[in-house]
Amino acid sequence: MRKYNFFAGPSTLPVEVLEELKENMVDYKGMGMSLIETSHRSKEYDEVHNDAVGLVKELLGLPDNYKVIFLGGGATLQFTMVPSNLMIGSRTADYTLTGSWAKKAYDDAAKLGNAVVAYDGKENKYTELPSNVSLSEDSSYLHITSNETIGGLQWKNFPDTGDVPLVADMSSDILSRPLPVEKFGMIYAGAQKNLGPAGATLAIIRDDLLERSSDDLTAYLNYSIHADKNSLYNTPPVFSIYAVMLVLKRLKALGGLDVVEKMNREKADLIYNVIDSSKGFYKCPVQRENRSLMNIVFTMENEDFEKDFVSKASAIGMVGLKGHRSVGGCRASVYNSMPIEGAKALADFMKDFAAGK
Ligand SMILES: Cc1ncc(COP(=O)(O)O)c(C=O)c1O
Repeated sequence: MRKYNFFAGPSTLPVEVLEELKENMVDYKGMGMSLIETSHRSKEYDEVHNDAVGLVKELLGLPDNYKVIFLGGGATLQFTMVPSNLMIGSRTADYTLTGSWAKKAYDDAAKLGNAVVAYDGKENKYTELPSNVSLSEDSSYLHITSNETIGGLQWKNFPDTGDVPLVADMSSDILSRPLPVEKFGMIYAGAQKNLGPAGATLAIIRDDLLERSSDDLTAYLNYSIHADKNSLYNTPPVFSIYAVMLVLKRLKALGGLDVVEKMNREKADLIYNVIDSSKGFYKCPVQRENRSLMNIVFTMENEDFEKDFVSKASAIGMVGLKGHRSVGGCRASVYNSMPIEGAKALADFMKDFAAGK
């Protein structure tokens, strides 16, 4: 039996995609070898690669002045690459501290330049997002984390930054909803939540920002080199990009990001509704308007209940519900590929569990 996988990442993938990978693993479309054995410059891989790039552009409706690149190193490498490439002049950039991932991005940037805390959610224990953010005078960019995977917060409206580029780590909500892409100078995301298996990192960069990459940067760290070479400067993570392409094809077949968002809202509502109607048995610490549709966090009155919950859910095939070790509680990650049946099963189980206590 296939389990419902609520892990925060790597996370569940569509079963059709896994089947297609299996079918083509040994002999890719009659080539007599696997795609992961062939050259990344072969015509077979080239097609997969360009399809993946094209589908990102199509799904997001990207204007022509944005480049799509695939990199390795996870979103974590972007914590270094973003300041290395995009900090200019006085090397000042603004960062919003909205949770654990934002803090990691900030910490790396602070080692490379003048990273300024434009917002710190410490006072509200990282349960709220700001409605707007004021920027430093000579800011190179504003960095936000569109969805905090651990804290369960998600930006619904993005700050207005005028001429200052907005840069977003979208690792845990990329392609989960339509986006006002023109508001962003750059978007990046590790693949392993909404896009596919770990390995590839997606980066979307506006052309004018590529001009900021200094020739002094070592090659791999330089966005402009990756963009010029269509992400083939070195060997890209071919298996991950292949799987990402299949996931994107499925999103397109579902009807695009409007439909995907509707499905995500439906799944999240099922679970939040149980929390809100549980008369305080389950509590979501996040301010209502900032609740994530991807990572739903909740607590119970004591840790024993939470442990019992996680273990009973696991026994009936719902895994990955333990909250992150840094915050405790429970967390249900319901990314794009979680079927509605999984969200329904969890909501029903939550009701039964509360009734039994
Ligand atoms: C929002 C966010 N940013 C960055 C990361 C780090 O990503 P990676 O493991 O791809 O480096 C994660 C991983 O969970 C994340 O959720």
